[in-house]
Amino acid sequence: MSQVPYTTTNAGAPVASDAHSQTVGNDGPIVLHDHYLVEKLAQFNREKVPERIVHAKGGGAFGTFTTTHDVSAYTRAALFQPGVTTETLLRFSTVAGEQGSPDTWRDPRGFALKFYTTEGNYDLVGNNTPVFFIRDGIKFPDFIHSQKRLPGSHLRDNDMQWDFWSLSPESAHQVTWLMGDRGIPASWRHMDGFGSHTYQWINAAGERFWVKYHFETNQGVRNFTPEAAAQLAGSDADHHIRDLYEAIEGGDFPSWTLSVQVMPYADAAEYRFNPFDLTKVWPHGDYPLIEVGQLELNRNPENYFAQIEQATFAPSNFVPGIAASPDKMLLARIFSYADAHRYRVGTNHAQLPVNAPHAAPVHSYSKDGAARYAFNAASTPVYAPNSLGGAAADPARAAESPGWESDGVLQRAAATLHAEDDDFGQAGTLYREVFDDGARARFLETITGHVGAVKSDAIRERAIQYWTNVDAGLGVALRAALAGVAPLEMGEPGTASVPVA
Ligand code: HEM
Repeated sequence: MSQVPYTTTNAGAPVASDAHSQTVGNDGPIVLHDHYLVEKLAQFNREKVPERIVHAKGGGAFGTFTTTHDVSAYTRAALFQPGVTTETLLRFSTVAGEQGSPDTWRDPRGFALKFYTTEGNYDLVGNNTPVFFIRDGIKFPDFIHSQKRLPGSHLRDNDMQWDFWSLSPESAHQVTWLMGDRGIPASWRHMDGFGSHTYQWINAAGERFWVKYHFETNQGVRNFTPEAAAQLAGSDADHHIRDLYEAIEGGDFPSWTLSVQVMPYADAAEYRFNPFDLTKVWPHGDYPLIEVGQLELNRNPENYFAQIEQATFAPSNFVPGIAASPDKMLLARIFSYADAHRYRVGTNHAQLPVNAPHAAPVHSYSKDGAARYAFNAASTPVYAPNSLGGAAADPARAAESPGWESDGVLQRAAATLHAEDDDFGQAGTLYREVFDDGARARFLETITGHVGAVKSDAIRERAIQYWTNVDAGLGVALRAALAGVAPLEMGEPGTASVPVA
């Protein structure tokens, strides 16, 4: 039998025992200078980093993205040139639950992509829904507080949720989506992904376009019924992590087709609604899908903590040919994520192997900080500009000018400058024209259960008005259904359902 290696301390010295602490005699006290025991216990106490403030529960895998169609007329980004294959990491997640929460609660799902491109890392941090609950990032902390737990009881609370939603009518489209059949995906493999925001693409000639990303699952969309989801929440809380891991281990690699909607730059000013409003989709009749390529997941992480928990995805990670838009949510996110990463993982999180560029060199003047790992050669200057041959900024990037025209006085306002800048229109269209009869019936049952768990009469009434604004008939049906439902304590949102009168 071959000899296994000796256990060592973190400093590499062989240790005497992994079973016995050093004591004074058989029943004597443990000595403080048993530094190996101290190292083990101290290291153990520090095994966790703070969980993500949102999207804490998740899983992911590595894969490739291959550009199969020519979209070079719209972007010069290297990864989107025909035939280019790029290594990727995709992390899926639920939003509101903590790290141990069930994968099958009703919630949007995160769809966070990192492309390790030859021009640096490009992160597209999206969801499985094309829209969102709010349209200004200043509301995000309040929105999330309303979805999490009460400070006293530490319970989630339907009153908080409906209080916030009914006072934030711009949420109606996303809440309609969430309470519909797609609110509980059967697996991460069986759901679509969206960039959700409007982004900017710039081609080699410097022309600018507005784009929206759509990743359509090649496995087909499948969802759980609330009953199946509730059962799995108890019997297999990690169902989605398991499903993805086992599919990839078994060689059944999930894939998605990426298409984009492209709006010519000048159209934005005159479009019928604000094309940068994250609560709206662009109808495909106005801007059809243009196919770009194939995303495949084919490699499980070797270490969950190092490669998934410590992975950091930031909407500020753009590459040449891709840039932001005036979407206020996106602009807030461009600050928020990198800030979260410095807190959650550390100042030098970008040096970890999962976060560092894999296909592009780093020539940065950032230095030092806790847990610094990589560094420049001693002969490299530590400042710019310098006359010593150190890296210099790329004038072509400055000339590309990935911006937009903007002028005006500083203000805090949500001006409605376009004819259809409303809150309820697209929610009503989703309910009436996209849902079929069966989907509408299940939707009514779900919102009846959800609103039925609201204890405050005033908030319930506002919730009924909210759905009346989405569709008058829906409001009438909801009021009738609720008449037979006494307020009750519910479990997690949407997993319980109450009888419809
Ligand atoms: C995670 C902030 C809106 C998708 C996070 C994190 C923060 C955050 C701080 C944790 C990051 C970390 O610790 O690594 C915000 C703010 C928003 C916002 C301030 C609004 C202004 C959105 C929207 C989407 C989204 C609209 C999707 C379209 C995600 C995803 C993750 C995440 C997928 C998990 C990323 C991962 O897997 O590591 N968000 N978020 N967020 N957010 Fe947002």
